[in-house]
Amino acid sequence: MARTALLNVMVQAAMKAGRALVRDFGEVENLQVSRKGPSDFVSAADRRAEEIIRAELSKARPAFGFLMEEGGEIPAEDGQHRWIVDPLDGTTNFLHGIPLFAISIALERQGQIVAGVIFNPVMDELYTCERGRGVFLNDRRLRVANRNALPDCLIGTGLPFLGKGDHGRALKELRHVMPEVAGIRRCGAAALDLAFVAAGRLDGFWEHSLNPWDIAAGLLMVREAGGFVSDINGKDTMLETGSIVAGNEFVRAQLLKLLKNAAE
Ligand code: IPD
Ligand code: CA
Ligand code: CA
Ligand code: CA
Repeated sequence: MARTALLNVMVQAAMKAGRALVRDFGEVENLQVSRKGPSDFVSAADRRAEEIIRAELSKARPAFGFLMEEGGEIPAEDGQHRWIVDPLDGTTNFLHGIPLFAISIALERQGQIVAGVIFNPVMDELYTCERGRGVFLNDRRLRVANRNALPDCLIGTGLPFLGKGDHGRALKELRHVMPEVAGIRRCGAAALDLAFVAAGRLDGFWEHSLNPWDIAAGLLMVREAGGFVSDINGKDTMLETGSIVAGNEFVRAQLLKLLKNAAE
């Protein structure tokens, strides 16, 4: 399916920033790195990529606003559109030389996510979606996996970093979910976790304490691939609460049940 002009703008921005990330990844040991918290790293690569994305998107659509991980908010002049940008999802992987990281860009229109791009420039995997038009990995249309027996399912999650999130809850949840499923993955990039659910690579995914830029593009991708996304209470408030549970209808429902048991 041909991409709309808007999606093309997002793809061009992600690819240009991706080239910068690949250059920085090749010299990762020389990058300037600082901490926002005990284990919350930010590098010159995050900032450079974000600057490229901001410049490209605002050149193409000057009236749109921004919510960016590093640069914060820029209000929309048109009062309707906002780009939600994670310039480098998986910074910790990136800084350790692990090529599992991505750029995530979502477009919100009147409070609703209408398009998303997630790009892993090392694997050259470009995920794109628009509301009602499906989701693609490069040129291939994606569907979520159709496994429905948990012992067959590979499930992704995110675990809290040092000094961040609820470690006790994470351990309890693992104790409930791990014995029921084929295996668990902690990939280290929430945007990619969701793209992997859309691609049917992971059967399901859950995590807490995420920010809108981690999940805005990915949650639309899962839905456009025929999957289901909610927060831990089954509500459609992932962008506000930061908790997310995703999968096909069956897997998401089963995960919700196990996570509810873990909370009791
Ligand atoms: C992080 C990644 C990670 C998740 C963290 C996020 P960042 O994003 O998505 O998988 O567990 O909660 O903060 O900081 O690398 O963009
Ligand atoms: Ca970060
Ligand atoms: Ca992120
Ligand atoms: Ca980031």
